[in-house]
Amino acid sequence: MGIKPLVLIGTIALGAIVLIGALSLVPINRTNPAVTYQMQWDSPQTKAIWDRACKDCHSNETVWPVWSYIAPASFLIANHVSDGRRQLNVSQPPGGRGGFAGKINDSERQINSGGMPDPLYVPLHPDSALTAAEKAQLIAGIKATFSAAK
Ligand code: HEC
Repeated sequence: MGIKPLVLIGTIALGAIVLIGALSLVPINRTNPAVTYQMQWDSPQTKAIWDRACKDCHSNETVWPVWSYIAPASFLIANHVSDGRRQLNVSQPPGGRGGFAGKINDSERQINSGGMPDPLYVPLHPDSALTAAEKAQLIAGIKATFSAAK
């Protein structure tokens, strides 16, 4: 390889690094708003499975990973968390139609279909992968917990 292709590759690589760095500086909302509601979980087991598989996107106690600070992953993750919280947030008093009880059927459907936890999330958080028994336990626990949540 002559010198010219190397210079070209180097320039492109440097450009990519500068671009990723610049994009990573775009302000992104990675905040955890105050917890204003304490979900009364039906059992510590339900809470433990929920914490492993759902908490990061459906509570105000998100653990933001290192890669959530690097573009373009940062945009995707911040969007997921804000969309997830809008749909279901166990850190805030129930609002909207049906409250928490109204999320029971959707939760069951999502867990059974493999839609939740998000398939993009699982490989990066191996702990969130649930066995069939854990899924059944989480669904039963969500039913008991959300139907009693006021
Ligand atoms: C990586 C983030 C993430 C994780 C982890 C996650 N969710 Fe979600 N969830 C979302 C997003 C984003 C939405 C809104 C977009 C959508 O509807 O697909 C959502 C929507 C939902 C909804 C409402 C949508 C519907 O189908 O009615 C329910 C219920 C839900 N999630 C349950 C769960 C449960 C239960 C878990 C754990 C087993 C979980 N989620 C884990 C991001 C996540």
